[in-house]
Amino acid sequence: MWGGRFATGPDAIMEEINASIDFDKRLWRQDIRGSLAHAAMLEATGILTGEDVAAITAGLKAVEADIEAERFTFSRALEDVHMNIENDLKERIGPAAGRLHTARSRNDQVATDMRLWVRDTLDQIDEQMADLQLALAEKALAHAGSVMPGFTHLQSAQPVTFGHHLLAYVEMLSRDRGRVRDARARLNECPLGAAALAGTSFPIDRHMTAQALGFDRPTANSLDSVSDRDFVLETLAAASICAMHLSRLAEEIVLWATPQFGFVRLSDSFSTGSSIMPQKRNPDAAELVRGKAGRVFGALQAMLTMMKGLPLTYSKDMQEDKEGTFDALQTLSLCLAAMAGMVRDMEPDLKAMKRAAGLGYATATDLADWLVRVLKMPFRDAHHVTGKLVGIASAKGVGLEKLSLEEMQAVEPQITEAIFAVLGVTQSVRSRTSHGGTAPANVGRQARRWLAQLRKARG
Ligand code: ARG
Repeated sequence: MWGGRFATGPDAIMEEINASIDFDKRLWRQDIRGSLAHAAMLEATGILTGEDVAAITAGLKAVEADIEAERFTFSRALEDVHMNIENDLKERIGPAAGRLHTARSRNDQVATDMRLWVRDTLDQIDEQMADLQLALAEKALAHAGSVMPGFTHLQSAQPVTFGHHLLAYVEMLSRDRGRVRDARARLNECPLGAAALAGTSFPIDRHMTAQALGFDRPTANSLDSVSDRDFVLETLAAASICAMHLSRLAEEIVLWATPQFGFVRLSDSFSTGSSIMPQKRNPDAAELVRGKAGRVFGALQAMLTMMKGLPLTYSKDMQEDKEGTFDALQTLSLCLAAMAGMVRDMEPDLKAMKRAAGLGYATATDLADWLVRVLKMPFRDAHHVTGKLVGIASAKGVGLEKLSLEEMQAVEPQITEAIFAVLGVTQSVRSRTSHGGTAPANVGRQARRWLAQLRKARG
């Protein structure tokens, strides 16, 4: 393609470092879609004849069919997906193929292809996020009243419900989806027609191609069009935050599934055995979701580093935007699917969770609140009295509810029998009725609200 200016072909190392076909062949659908739109526009504006464009269009469709059917051989010598497709077109239709590249450059072409690919992938990832939300909300509704320990510092803090805990992730995913929507909305401008960097002298219609490819409008500045990869960065940032959320849930599942916690049993489909220790059921899928977050963050970091300091406009560095992005989004997609499967299959052990919810003096705050509510004690004093009672119970190695009324009254004489009603974990969660609180009635309402919304969107 630039053979005219060079006496010898690139040597093997040059080809090795330069060729992107091994990974950018993934863009073939988007590349053909963009070329079809470009060709139709060249005809509509009278830049190419109807005859040439008919040949180009038929040829591109034949290439498409061949790639689809895996009858196409991608060649490294042809560098990238754009040249591979154009060269094949030339073999099919002859010189008319050479006219397709009128008023276009690989710089605006690759920017267009990549936007289309990222947009398609974001749509698919959004659907997967919605599906995980649905799996979580369904489990949450079933367990709106199932008591488990809530933690801070991974120390027993206060009893909560399992449904409430799962809905926390539904909220995170809802923000993740908001970030995906934002990224999609901002990327949806068409760089095609910016040409190499400066625009073109041909009377092209950029609105026409933008519309044909489902973009909201053409990009406004040709220099920015070929040098911007913000849309990749934003997508990877959104993907990283979601991967981070998934890794937190994955870590919790790993903990919950250990015999020491014993809160959940994972299905056989998402666990593996050990080749040496027959008793083991390892939560491999959860561990991998936790671990794979690193690849997604890595892609974002690599992309930021690659882009920083690049002078306008296109530089070949930017070819490095692809592998990490493909890998990160494919990884996120796999993690979302695995997580939805794990959540759907996960069987909580309600007895174990409830037992654990009562450990670690998890209802101490309820006791302190009782002192405030009934005895009108300032909270700080109530905290002090409760601390003493916890100290006594802990020295005896029993729970707060096992202290006698006399023992309690020795610390605070005004305490009555009624205090025992707030020391149970069920009573504790039931009392947390404040907006966003863990009371089963709240959780049930929230889960139903989410389910209605998610099912409606799904249609
Ligand atoms: N393979 C290239 C990329 O991915 C396509 C654009 C090449 N442009 C150029 N002027 N060499 O960035």
